[in-house]
Amino acid sequence: GSEEKETISVTFIDKDGEENHIKVPVGMSMLEAAHENDIDLEGKSFKAIFEVAKRACEGSLACSTCHVIVMDVEHYNKLEDPTDEENDMLDLAFGLTETSRLGCQVIAKPELDGIRLAIPAATRNFAVDGFVPKPH
Ligand code: FES
Repeated sequence: GSEEKETISVTFIDKDGEENHIKVPVGMSMLEAAHENDIDLEGKSFKAIFEVAKRACEGSLACSTCHVIVMDVEHYNKLEDPTDEENDMLDLAFGLTETSRLGCQVIAKPELDGIRLAIPAATRNFAVDGFVPKPH
């Protein structure tokens, strides 16, 4: 229907609490959205995380580089439940929280309008310090 062209508001928050507001088309993953919007949260490091994630596995659940923390439980509860594969990858993610998800598995939909996502600083360091993708 007409919802396919809709966009939702998404906020990415860096470790210092700086907020970046972007519009994400319904159906797009947060990994893609962050990448396409060229978000500059802390120098170029944020983009670097997602560059690595994209190259490493392109959202095929073969890494945990795209780890994001959903900042409010309300939005977290509106997400599809993580698959076993996602949970396995999240277990490997640095700085895991109760509302952690993989950014490539969070797909924009109208109910998620206003969602706020934080990037764990440790994930960036993990990526920068020679992240090695797991073979699929
Ligand atoms: Fe690898 Fe999301 S990009 S699991």
